[in-house]
Amino acid sequence: MSKQTGTKKPSAENPKPRILVLHGPNLNLLGSREPGIYGHNTLEQIHRTMEAQGRAAGVQVESYQSNSEGELVDRVQSAASEGVQFIIINPAAYTHTSIALRDALTAVAIPFIEVHLSNIHARESFRQHSYFSDIAVGVICGLGSTGYELALAAALERIKSS
Ligand code: DQA
Repeated sequence: MSKQTGTKKPSAENPKPRILVLHGPNLNLLGSREPGIYGHNTLEQIHRTMEAQGRAAGVQVESYQSNSEGELVDRVQSAASEGVQFIIINPAAYTHTSIALRDALTAVAIPFIEVHLSNIHARESFRQHSYFSDIAVGVICGLGSTGYELALAAALERIKSS
């Protein structure tokens, strides 16, 4: 998939609420990367499913993947000026290391749900700490790509009731 999809800015012609889905390092390899742990779905398939789920609810869902911490920080910062209302993020390995990405999410104060394909609590001890969970609206892990759909359903529910 391209790094960014559906990047239209909100305007009179495009008034839909926006949800940004962020994917951290190595998630571009989904489908072929350790499928026993991360499943067989590609990032493109995950994005298409979420995009359709958003479209049915009248919400624009855009996805962005980067292997670079700085690019993810930049994307979070620009989300604020673009009027993104909610973020769904799988920070991947940055979950366990990135104070910078945590600080960016705190700075923009956009509510977010943290998603992991695998159950990070049932894996190596270094995966069991997240720099994001205590500031997230919620955390979903261990449900594979279904976790993204559940996170989006929760985000849509919140947007609807806000
Ligand atoms: C992951 C779990 C992380 O520990 C790992 O570094 C990833 C993916 C997950 O989705 O299960 O890259 O976030």
